Amino acid sequence: PRPILLTRHGESRDNVRGRIGGDTVLSDAGEIYAKKLANFVEKRLKSERTASIWTSTLQRTILTASPIAAFPKIQWRALDEINAGVCDGMTYEEIKKNMPEEYEARKKDKLRYRYPRGESYLDVIQRLEPVIIELERQRAPVVVISHQAVLRALYAYFADRPLKEIPHIEMPLHTIIEIQMGVTGVQEKRYKLMD
Ligand code: G3H
Repeated sequence: PRPILLTRHGESRDNVRGRIGGDTVLSDAGEIYAKKLANFVEKRLKSERTASIWTSTLQRTILTASPIAAFPKIQWRALDEINAGVCDGMTYEEIKKNMPEEYEARKKDKLRYRYPRGESYLDVIQRLEPVIIELERQRAPVVVISHQAVLRALYAYFADRPLKEIPHIEMPLHTIIEIQMGVTGVQEKRYKLMD
């Protein structure tokens, strides 16, 4: 069995400010995570000749992957964070204050709610299909460095979690979820590299 390692990017400057979307660089803590992740991956996959590192096209995942020297990297647009449309760059407080109907609509049905000029969780799940097909086809280990909403959807696929739970799955920063697909089903391990 070969592992799939899932992780969010290291903490970004927008994470610190509570802003969603955007395309900022990492915070100091995020940069430390990138180095720890590289160490972990290079040790964990030492005996693997053909692993690969998949990121989104956003800076925060590319920078998180950058200290990993041992394996090739591939950028997928399909791994980009949920597109928050007109709310991109706002905090949840700002959305609540300036666009209360949008805030309430999302709270009511987070799975189906689509940001104006952006995406819903269902949209994200749909665009992940080619990524999932490719992940299933791979024989070598893959490290996926992506974003909260996207990883909720990917994780739910492998862990067989129901659709309606997806937007609420806990997906902490600075933690690696290792998935192993064997004959007896899916096994999962978590490694929290820092707080
Ligand atoms: O920027 C988007 C967030 O990572 C997604 O979180 O769907 O819980 O608002 P949320």
